[in-house]
Amino acid sequence: MKGIEILGYGYAKAEHRITNDDLEKIVDTSDEWIVARTGISSRYVSENKNTSDLAYEAAIKAIGNAGIDSSEISLIVVATITPDKFTPSTASIIQEKLNLNQPMMAFDINAACSGYVYALEIASKMIDIGETALVIGAETLSKILDYSDRNTCILFGDGAGASIIKKTGTDKSIEFHSRSVPDVNHVLFANGVSQSTPLTNDSKDYGYLEMNGKEVFRFAIKVMQESIESLLNQIDKSIDEIDLIIPHQANIRIISHVARKLKVDIEKFYTNLHEYGNTSAASIAMALACANEEGILREGMKIIIVGFGAGLTYGASYIEL
Ligand code: ACO
Repeated sequence: MKGIEILGYGYAKAEHRITNDDLEKIVDTSDEWIVARTGISSRYVSENKNTSDLAYEAAIKAIGNAGIDSSEISLIVVATITPDKFTPSTASIIQEKLNLNQPMMAFDINAACSGYVYALEIASKMIDIGETALVIGAETLSKILDYSDRNTCILFGDGAGASIIKKTGTDKSIEFHSRSVPDVNHVLFANGVSQSTPLTNDSKDYGYLEMNGKEVFRFAIKVMQESIESLLNQIDKSIDEIDLIIPHQANIRIISHVARKLKVDIEKFYTNLHEYGNTSAASIAMALACANEEGILREGMKIIIVGFGAGLTYGASYIEL
């Protein structure tokens, strides 16, 4: 899609840095196991900040980084699986926090860890030339984690990443390749509240995130490779023409595997999962903003972002900076 540009990036982390040593005190695990099996050393967990608070912080930074006035924003899309509330949406809360009184569309999407990739595609397709959108991936996954389940609690963290995009009509482009397949084996889910009626008003348990790690691993390496190859085919480019790949920050072994399959140096993949863990929909948005802060992103760069997650969703986008 021609003429879409990312003008600015921002991210926010939760208040508490939880190291692997901290987790050793609450579940039967070790720093050695977690680092060897995942590459994760720490993650950030929120105590008082909800998803919209982190999303707002990230949004403010992205608006500042883009050098725009927030009143220029005409669309807000938030990707999250852990909204503050069922309704209103996190995006509507952000609209209020930003004091954007002009009528606009503001809504959430749930595509799990592919959320930011989906949200970027949706927002890009919804804005006209001259219009600006705020696209956010934000999570407080700690709300749906069972901190007695060592299979899941070691992996995930809270955080938010935001981007300002604009349809400029220039030659720059973003291309998309997003897909979803049914999770027939239910390898990744969190049930949330169960249904209740006035007659059975007793079933209000929250369901924590549950996962078959091995199956998710197999799915991830397959679809990440497929997504990148399909996208390259679609844009008629080779992997060697790509400067940087920003993958969903789930597990360094998944990323290394994909790098080997694609026959590219792992250095081409940006990672920050050692510090932040897997922040689901926030992961790629945060990674983009961190890479920008670290001075890695530069004008003219050709980037692929690629994600996978519950659904099962997956997707990749090609971005020319
Ligand atoms: N500490 C110590 N031992 C552990 C831990 C832990 N935290 N977790 C599991 N183990 C044990 C298991 O019990 C098992 O022991 P056993 O052999 O005695 O049965 C052993 O370690 C090996 O367990 P596996 O599950 O085979 O470990 P694996 O190498 O597959 O790693 C992991 C597990 C890290 C979860 C991996 O499968 C993975 O990363 N999968 C992908 C997960 C993912 O990306 N999820 C996010 C999806 S995005 C979204 O939408 C939310």
